[in-house]
Amino acid sequence: MAFLMNAWYCAAWTEELETEDRFARKLLGKSVLIFKKQDGTYGAIGNACPHRFAPLNKGPREGDTFICPYHGLEFDTNGRCTRNPNEGGTIPRAARVPSYPLVERDSALWIWMGDPKKADLDLIPDFSMIRAREGWNVVRGHHVTKANYELVMDNLMDRTHVQFLHPLLKLMGEQPENFQRIQSVEQIGNMIWDYHGEVNCTKYPLLDALWPEAPDIVENYFDVRWEAPSNMLLNAGTVEVGTNREVGVHLPMSNLLTPADEFSTHYFWSQARDKNIGREEMDEMIKAGVAHTFQNEDGEMVADCMEMMGTNDLMRLNPVMLPGDAAAVRARRILSSMIAAEQAEAGLV
Ligand code: FES
Ligand SMILES: [Fe+2]
Repeated sequence: MAFLMNAWYCAAWTEELETEDRFARKLLGKSVLIFKKQDGTYGAIGNACPHRFAPLNKGPREGDTFICPYHGLEFDTNGRCTRNPNEGGTIPRAARVPSYPLVERDSALWIWMGDPKKADLDLIPDFSMIRAREGWNVVRGHHVTKANYELVMDNLMDRTHVQFLHPLLKLMGEQPENFQRIQSVEQIGNMIWDYHGEVNCTKYPLLDALWPEAPDIVENYFDVRWEAPSNMLLNAGTVEVGTNREVGVHLPMSNLLTPADEFSTHYFWSQARDKNIGREEMDEMIKAGVAHTFQNEDGEMVADCMEMMGTNDLMRLNPVMLPGDAAAVRARRILSSMIAAEQAEAGLV
């Protein structure tokens, strides 16, 4: 299955370049060298040397020059070969690696791996809700899930599994008689909003840590905004019933999925909160809790599903559909029609 190429994907969190000056990451099936330049801006070039495809990240770096560890060809931050130290010193015309636009926004580095002329900054999705700011603490994480990104997308847009898969997030005990579950889907252009609410419900175990003063009966909301290719905002929180979502804890979260290849997915998440802020141990607890949930519960489940499927193409297996799948199926359809249009435009189909 082809990837949508003319789109912004999250390549890294900026904090990953605080401890290293460069690293390689597989994105959309290609090895990419991601770095911070001498002037403080960020850049990304192909990581495979065009001579014998040695990984440039394993070679030395001198200022803004990356030196191939195998035969020493030197590349600048635009991917151009600037020096051949071998006899004769001629630089072959083909000695260059691709250069990819890479832009910092909301602590994420966004990469465009399609036609660079189409890389419009206005198309970077809006995740200002999870920006670090006064009154909010934000924690971030990254891991790789061994499953196709569309399966991870399905998982995030499906609320029904929470009660079965996530012991810390499931509602406890019997629900009151006036318990109400609300769900609806709205499509705005190619964007989907999948709205979920649980009104008059019992608490979930993790809430005691997030909002110790919460009443016994609360309202949960979790509205998922999906945008192609696979960037999701999960606008979630737990509030006092009838306060129009105002009194309580608000937990907006970004879920940015970038295919490493067809079988594995980079999962970049960040979560903001407006209670218990300024406490480092709380940050660590949330970071560990979210990482555990996504890696060990959701991550393992989708990896198991992928293995059972034996293919990365769910739809080819004619899966049974349940009502909770509506938004994810719609997202898959939008994505595949965008990919088909892109392929047709490029004359590939
Ligand atoms: S593989 Fe890079 S210079 Fe030979
Ligand atoms: Fe989950």
